Amino acid sequence: MTGDRVWSGRFSTAPAGAAHALGSSLRFDVRLASQDVEASIAHVRALEDVGLLSAEDAKSLEAALADVGHEIAEGRLGFDERDEDVHSAIERAVTDRLGELGARLHAGRSRNDLVITDLRLWLMAAGRAIERETVGLIRVLVEHARGHAGDPLPGMTHGRAAQPVTLGHHLLAHASGLARDLERLEGWSSRASTSPLGAGAIATSTLGLDPDMTAARLGFHRAFANSIDAVSDRDVVQEFLAVAAILATHVSRLAADLLRWTDPSLGWAELDEAYSTGSSMMPHKRNPDTAELARAKAARIAGDFATVTALLQGLPLGYHRDLQEDKEPVLDAADTLERVLPALTGAVRTVRFDTEAMRAACEDEGLYATDLAEALVKSGVPFREAHRRTGALLKGLAERGSALRELGSEEWAAFGVPHGRTLLDPDRSIAARSGPGGPSRASVEHQAEMLEAFLDARPIQP
Ligand code: ARG
Repeated sequence: MTGDRVWSGRFSTAPAGAAHALGSSLRFDVRLASQDVEASIAHVRALEDVGLLSAEDAKSLEAALADVGHEIAEGRLGFDERDEDVHSAIERAVTDRLGELGARLHAGRSRNDLVITDLRLWLMAAGRAIERETVGLIRVLVEHARGHAGDPLPGMTHGRAAQPVTLGHHLLAHASGLARDLERLEGWSSRASTSPLGAGAIATSTLGLDPDMTAARLGFHRAFANSIDAVSDRDVVQEFLAVAAILATHVSRLAADLLRWTDPSLGWAELDEAYSTGSSMMPHKRNPDTAELARAKAARIAGDFATVTALLQGLPLGYHRDLQEDKEPVLDAADTLERVLPALTGAVRTVRFDTEAMRAACEDEGLYATDLAEALVKSGVPFREAHRRTGALLKGLAERGSALRELGSEEWAAFGVPHGRTLLDPDRSIAARSGPGGPSRASVEHQAEMLEAFLDARPIQP
């Protein structure tokens, strides 16, 4: 007994239980149910357009599809062993309701064009939600940056004190990367907006359906240009994952800075209790789990990208069941981002910066060594010589357990920078680096303005 599968005609036995268990995708692709209904309704209209369905039959099919969609959404639709994926389940449920009329639904389409139509619709909605969350995170960073445009902070290279920057400057560095992620999401979404419906199994159909009309009905910007490409490629999934992996990497690096800054041994910031957790054993602990998980989830999304990339490499064109394996990783990546972004945004929104501790850390004299060398350059000394002379000064001071702040005016004059003492000051050092893109208050405020204008121009807002 084959059961009434959508393909049972040339079979005399049903699939083995183990084969069905391996092949069934319903447990995860049921999440595409509302997109499958939407795509199916557009297909019903295409069939009506060419006269293969009467207006009345088309209406009945649409109503049955909508009804099945509601039942799935409410968890009321009973699935059975014939349902190997959401597409066959919906067609089966419609046919259970309408009999002979349901059997007309699948003319001129295949699950091959349907599945990737559904997935594009689903991913485009997920992409919009992720864009919205990303805009929200950037806005929080820009707000903090505006409030701290002039607060000094040791800029780090190799994780060690390098040159003074401002907290605003540093926060906008994170915002800048996220802004490029937004552009990448937008670029992806405009390429994703291609409808595969009408490509059929591989070669369109003989029924005269109009894919452009179907694309327009579904809100896609265009229909497929090549039916083999339409059903075979998954670069839309791979590119989504690449963009997601880069975005998650930026989020991870922001989380890493938060973790370092809120390390009590540094004490530059404190996470709000609402984004911290306690220890089951050690009563004193306040742990930064939200930031740690935001840091860690990037690995998982990179793994999702790697899975789909490996899946596609070497796969000849045409639909293969291998392609069913694209869904779990891409749904996982979207879900993960939709959980990580609001949590980290909340942690950043509520973090308390200790600007006094940051300023105190700017007492590290090494932060001003480059300014001293540049002061020599401004008086005509070649940079290599200025670098060597400043390095030698610091070496001598270290050897005798002294410091730049202890130098007298004669020693500064001998060094060649009579006003050297005044350069050991974070505010002065930062103000002196007033060029575009730099740490000065004016520059940070300009950067914030540019980012705000960039955000205001986006079509999707939180
Ligand atoms: N569940 C399948 C997938 O996710 C749908 C397409 C099945 N097509 C086929 N010819 N078996 O890819």
